[in-house]
Order: sequence, then structure tokens, then C-alpha cells
Amino acid sequence: MDYEKYIARAKSLVQQGTEAEESSPNAAKYFFIEAAALLAEASKCAPSFEAKKESLELANQLYLRAQKTEAEESPQQFTTSSVAFKDIAGMEKVKEEIRLKLIAPLKYPDVFAKYGKSVGGGILMYGPPGCGKSLLAEATAGEAGVPFFHVKASSLKSKYVGETEKNIAKLFDEARKHEAAILFFDEFEALGADRNKTTFSYEKNFVSQLLTELDGIGSKAQRLLVIAATNLPWEIDLALRRDGRFGSVIFIPPPDATARKEMLQMMLKSCPTKDIDSDILVKLTEGFSGAEIHGLVERAKEIPLKEFINTNKLRPVLQEDLLASVKSIHPVSKKWFSDAKQKLKCATDDPLWVDMQKTIEEV
Ligand SMILES: Nc1ncnc2c1ncn2[C@@H]1O[C@H](COP(=O)(O)OP(=O)(O)OP(=O)(O)O)[C@@H](O)[C@H]1O
Ligand SMILES: [Mg+2]
Repeated sequence: MDYEKYIARAKSLVQQGTEAEESSPNAAKYFFIEAAALLAEASKCAPSFEAKKESLELANQLYLRAQKTEAEESPQQFTTSSVAFKDIAGMEKVKEEIRLKLIAPLKYPDVFAKYGKSVGGGILMYGPPGCGKSLLAEATAGEAGVPFFHVKASSLKSKYVGETEKNIAKLFDEARKHEAAILFFDEFEALGADRNKTTFSYEKNFVSQLLTELDGIGSKAQRLLVIAATNLPWEIDLALRRDGRFGSVIFIPPPDATARKEMLQMMLKSCPTKDIDSDILVKLTEGFSGAEIHGLVERAKEIPLKEFINTNKLRPVLQEDLLASVKSIHPVSKKWFSDAKQKLKCATDDPLWVDMQKTIEEV
């Protein structure tokens, strides 16, 4: 390669490094070092003393930039959750299962060890949007009182081959630094997609990396829980759902009548109300998700507030405000259930189908 070609190639690498600097510091570091090495080579065939000096100075600057990039790489953030099970309406069975399988082993590892039960592991929650999967994960961390790593699966994805696996490994490493922790993967299908269906072959490696990390949890008796949530369970690789990895696969359906009643009471508690007939509202909100019930209550509250701005007179939230809001909401779970039926029809050998069919038939 001649001087000009070295310089052009180095420039292109610097540009790629600059683009990757924020989203993928490791990749940026690699690009800067490669560019520096090319500039050092270029200096050997530089046409003048000035050009030689300039390319060596630039190479030096890029080495320094690469070092700085590594130093600035931020560790995965975790939070402590203040949400508790009492903040979640209904789902008593699911809460019970989480208490027994996840929280109790974290809290009493010695007792569980005596009974030959390992601590840690994972659950995969699935169901229509807005039905409380994220809320449950947060409440599990709140109840267990351990650090909570909330990760959008898509945020770990890098456009550079090999980087996503590194991001997954780094996240698990970070979580393992704590005596106990909960790792929550939202939109899990972005990482755990079925290896037979992935468009790009390198995406198969994401699942392999996840399998390696998940298998490691049990064997090292770490107090690490992995919770994953998805709206598209049929897209998750079967190997990830096998017992021992995401041993429990839990369906989170739209709230039943009891849960809807509890939810309405919880959500209206903080504001003045008059003559609310929650039984009628419960009937009208059949199939609504928790998020949709939250939305309708918020809209209803806005009606007297709007009036107040115009008239300066304040009145409580009335049944008619809630009835008006109910009409403005079209629940998305119907569409989700019809999609689920469609998807699962073509997957009769999928164990998930058997689990879900029961619930789908009841809807
Ligand atoms: N069981 C519940 N009790 C109280 N509030 C609930 C419940 N379920 C849902 N909500 C309300 O709905 C909102 C959305 O719930 P959440 O984000 O947990 O849904 P999700 O299942 O994770 O949805 P998505 O699949 O879209 O990520 C919550 O912030 C809460 O206000
Ligand atoms: Mg969610």
C-alpha cells in the first residue's frame, strides 16, 4: 500500500470509530488503534519529512484517544426498586410463584441449599402489552431488596459483529459483582430470537452467549436472577426456554374482573371521587390491559380539571367521566390474542403452545 492509500484507509477507520464512540466504545477503540497502526505504517513511506511527522503525531493522538475511550466506558447501571407486590393488582398466583421460586431462595439461600434447591435462575414472562410484566419484574426486585438491572434487550445490540455478545457478557459480569441481583431483559425477543429464524447468521451467537451465561448461573450457585419479558414468545429460541434456563415460562394475561376492580380502586385512591360504581366499570373494561385502565383513569381525571381551568370550580371525578373515557379506549389485547392463535397454529410441536392454548380458549 502507498502513503495515500494508508491515509485514506486510516481516515475511514477514524470516522467509523467516531460514529461508534458512544454506542460501542470497545468497537471505537478497535477502530482508533487500527487507524493509528496504519498511520504509523504510512509514516514509513511518507513523501516528505513534514508528512512523516504529521502522520506519526496523528497516530499518537489516536492511541491516546483509544485509551481514553476505554476509560470512559460506563458500567451497566442498576437501581433499587421501590415497587412492591402490594402495588400490583391481582396476579396472586404469579406473585406466589415468584415468591417461592425467586424471592425466597434469594432471601434464604442456606435453607434452600439444605433442601437441595439451587438459588438463582430465570423466568420468562410473556403476554399482551401493558399487562404488568415490567411492573412485576420491578416489584420482584423491590420485594427481594436486591440491585435491579433493567435492560432493554435492543440496547445491548451493536451493529458490529461480536460486540453484542461482549455486551451481554459484560452485563452479566457487572451483575455478578453484587452478592445478589436481578437482571431484567425487556423486549427479550431482540436478543433471544429463535436461531432457525434469524436473518443474519451472527445473531445466532447472541443466543449462544445467553445460553453460556444462563448455564453459568446454576453451576456457580450465584444469587443472580434473570427475568425476561416479551410480547412475542413464539419468537424465542426453544433452547432458552428449556428447564434450568428460563425454567418458568409465565403467561401474564389481561387482568381478570377482581384485578380490574382492585386496579380501579388503587388508581382512583389519590383523587376526589363521587358515586363511582366500579362493578359497571369492571364489566365494561373486559379485555383491557393494566396500562389501558391506567390510561382511562388518567383521562377521566382530566375532565374535571379542564372544567376547573375554564370555570375555576372544582368537582370530584364522577362515574360519567370514567364512562366517557372507557369509550375512547380500544384494547390491544384482542389483536394480540388473534396474532398468538395464528402463530401458534403453525407450531403444534412447540411446548409453549400447550401452555397458552388453555388461556387463549378461555378468552
Ligand atoms: N396488575 C397491575 N396493577 C397495577 N397497575 C398495573 C398492572 N398491570 C399494569 N399496570 C399499569 O400498566 C402500566 C404498564 O405496565 P407494564 O409496563 O408492566 O406492562 P408490560 O406488560 O411490561 O407491557 P409491555 O409488554 O408493553 O412492555 C404500569 O405502569 C401500571 O400503571
Ligand atoms: Mg414492559
